[in-house]
Amino acid sequence: MFQVTLCILKPDIVRSPHLFNEIINLILQRQFIFIKSKHLQLNRQRAEEFYREHQEKFFYSRLVHYMSCGPISCHILGRENAIQEWRSMLGPTKVYKTIFEAANTIRGQHGITDTRNCAHGSDSIEKAQREINFFFPEFDMKSISIYENISAN
Ligand code: TYD
Ligand code: MG
Repeated sequence: MFQVTLCILKPDIVRSPHLFNEIINLILQRQFIFIKSKHLQLNRQRAEEFYREHQEKFFYSRLVHYMSCGPISCHILGRENAIQEWRSMLGPTKVYKTIFEAANTIRGQHGITDTRNCAHGSDSIEKAQREINFFFPEFDMKSISIYENISAN
């Protein structure tokens, strides 16, 4: 099924042009299309809102601090099975898990800590809708079929 997902390249990636280009190229090689892109910096309040599901977790404060510490790069990615495909390119959240199981993933290659883990990917259809709407409120989810046709050509 053709799907869209939200990809965020986090501050460590955006501040490194070499890594940024490398990851954009990896995404293109996996046949994703970039439907919309935005470069921006979250303030603390917006970062808290984006990650509100984690507000009781021990890492919430450091996560919010990190995600608002510099520019991020947000993308609506589309392709067959986009949500799972992008998550599998990303690899596990926890860096230690990438050591044996998933060294050849973006987080495995470039993750620094559990918080500074390179990139974000939506984990379900409902979350993709919410997260895309958070960054791209002007995007009409009903227009997805147009992009499905583009990606098939
Ligand atoms: P989570 O939704 O569990 O991971 P994912 O990004 O793989 O969907 O957590 C959201 C973010 O919170 C995660 O990308 C980085 C941060 N985080 C930590 O800083 N420490 C942790 O132990 C965990 C689990 C997450
Ligand atoms: Mg998550």
